[in-house]
Amino acid sequence: MIRKKQKENQKCVLGLATGSSPIAVYEELVRMHREEGLSFENVITFNLDEYYGLEKTHKESYYYFMHHHLFNHVNIPAENVNIPSGTVALEELEQWCDDYERKIEAAGGLDFQLLGIGRTGHIGFNEPGSAIDSKTRVVSLAHITKEDAADDFEGIENVPATAVTMGIGTVRSAKRIVLLAWGAKKSKIVKEAIEEEISSNVPATYLRQHPNTTFVFDEEAASKLSSHHLENQDLYEPCD
Ligand code: GLP
Repeated sequence: MIRKKQKENQKCVLGLATGSSPIAVYEELVRMHREEGLSFENVITFNLDEYYGLEKTHKESYYYFMHHHLFNHVNIPAENVNIPSGTVALEELEQWCDDYERKIEAAGGLDFQLLGIGRTGHIGFNEPGSAIDSKTRVVSLAHITKEDAADDFEGIENVPATAVTMGIGTVRSAKRIVLLAWGAKKSKIVKEAIEEEISSNVPATYLRQHPNTTFVFDEEAASKLSSHHLENQDLYEPCD
């Protein structure tokens, strides 16, 4: 998509995710930049979310994560990188979130959105209860989400209580969406995301109503899916 847009002299607008799931994607993009000359000059990125209260320099901030895994290693212009702010003053936050939405629109909208999935079924930090048309806003983190982050923060008491996240509506405005889930610990939520009734109880179910979403699982993450969901080998071909 980056190359195709480049040939057409267009910007490529990518929505990016953090967490362990997309790291291999970023490694591959860095490899393609180094070895195949893939240029990021025409790329504009918008990250999904950020912990509220963390400085950019904090090792667990998503700002740090993205620079460490991708932006420091490719030729993306610094002004093309957009990451929700973890430090904007509380009274300015609502305006900041509206501006983030407007900036995505002004860039031409998201061409592609990369996603992981949390064990609550969250995408970005859209925890259960998030509305299908929700936009960028400040949210409270679910207990399971804080538990999953506890090791990184050396204790659950150090995990921020809130975060700034794109909404489900923001994510669903992307022209193309790919969600990645790896390993047995995701198998339960993967089953719910694919097989449960579409509702805010499992926010990722809302992706099934998006016309151009692909779910990519390894065998362990897919291990609890009912067999009828595995029948179509074209759709569920195991991948390396
Ligand atoms: C965090 C992020 C999500 C991510 C999730 C899963 O909660 N805000 O965007 O999808 O973690 O992380 P992992 O890929 O490490 O399982």
